[in-house]
Amino acid sequence: MSNKFSLGFSTLDKEISIEKLTITGRLPAWLSGTLIRNGPARFEVGDIKMRHWFDGFSMLHAFSFAQGQVSYVNKFLESQAYQYARDKGKIGYAEFATDPCRSIFQRFTQIFSPSFTDNANVNISKLADKYVALTELPLPIEFNPQTLETLGVIKYADALPGITTTAHPHYDFSKKESLNFLTNFSAQSTYNLYRLPDHSATRELVSSIPTDAPSYMHSFALTENYLVLVEYPFVVNLFSLLLSGQPFIENYQWQPERGARFLVVSRKDGKLVGNCKSEAFFAFHHINAFENENEITLDISAYPDASVIEKLYLDILRGETDKELPRLGELRRYHINLETSAVKYEVMSAEPIELPRINYQLANTKKYHFVYGVGSDKNNPNNFLDRLVKIDLQDKNVQIWHQNDCYPGEPVFIPSPNAIKEDEGVIMSVVLNVQKGNSFLLVLDASSFTELARAEVPHHIPFGFHGQFYQV
Ligand code: CO
Repeated sequence: MSNKFSLGFSTLDKEISIEKLTITGRLPAWLSGTLIRNGPARFEVGDIKMRHWFDGFSMLHAFSFAQGQVSYVNKFLESQAYQYARDKGKIGYAEFATDPCRSIFQRFTQIFSPSFTDNANVNISKLADKYVALTELPLPIEFNPQTLETLGVIKYADALPGITTTAHPHYDFSKKESLNFLTNFSAQSTYNLYRLPDHSATRELVSSIPTDAPSYMHSFALTENYLVLVEYPFVVNLFSLLLSGQPFIENYQWQPERGARFLVVSRKDGKLVGNCKSEAFFAFHHINAFENENEITLDISAYPDASVIEKLYLDILRGETDKELPRLGELRRYHINLETSAVKYEVMSAEPIELPRINYQLANTKKYHFVYGVGSDKNNPNNFLDRLVKIDLQDKNVQIWHQNDCYPGEPVFIPSPNAIKEDEGVIMSVVLNVQKGNSFLLVLDASSFTELARAEVPHHIPFGFHGQFYQV
């Protein structure tokens, strides 16, 4: 028993470098730069199988564009966790949902020690002038963007406390700073929001928000004046985390009676200007947020609860159980009234969406039109991410790219030079073709959402998470 797309959850061992991929169609002449993608590519160590999609060892993939050609290189990220597994043939570090065997005493010391994983398989960013791979522990690993060679964990010049973080920092183009937060588990746990100016390795605390039960938050929102955390009622039990012996994420519990809290923090003085409650929901990915007088509009890919995490165990995704595949998030627009603290939402599209992206430089923190993402056939619960979607949030128009037996990953928007319109540019997505048994890089015209070109890769690229495009 296995799913049609299980190849996307199988290990890729080969590391290769190819100067020119075979292209069909035509790449825009202006296209120059490198798309770097991150995601798991090894799902077992010796006889031990990783349990969850989020556990696989990170591999980086770089597609570099110049003069209508594209080169490709892929490499495992040489994290300590990866090196240990490769050299010793066993799992030595605690992953998201897979743990090494340890005694309770070892576990007690491990949670706050470096034996918690540095397997940075989630996203890519540029921090402190360095290209880094990111995960949800604050251990960014630097790599060479051309060769993808691992250079090591970057060290911050501060001692900001925190155990977990997000792999989705924001960037403010006018202030030239990254923004993110750390969650510090303690007798008084806090969310420590910070800014990191360009060319600096010193994180500057914006605000420290206390919480009685730290929530699992995969991303957050930025507006012109605020940082917004949505604290879902999926909260950690610290005693359980220390003592249960369960893998990291299994120490979080769904407590819907708590509701969800929208924590609105002023970027100027760090004050908590909003603490607004709504009914319970869960999300991985914020899409965008912007201000409108006393209201914040916040778009997010929402789930009724956190059970989606349990549905991303590899045996389910591979079709080795009779459990249902996860349904994708619902595109919701929350309206947060800062005067009355009222929160309400509207559903913006009937089309489910995940791995959402926007024209970040132009649209982030602004009223905007377009969100791009992966989607799936609502009427076929046995399918996975089988399409790319583009949703116009103003007129609700939906455009879809789909090809039989093809499973696309996160769409990344790249603006064309001197673009004026929000959707002037291209969309890139790594697509798995299960019929041919390989992946290709798909390039769509972002406006018409139709194919411009594709570049074939000789092997399959396991389903990944996030990537970024840089003028490297
Ligand atoms: Co993510």
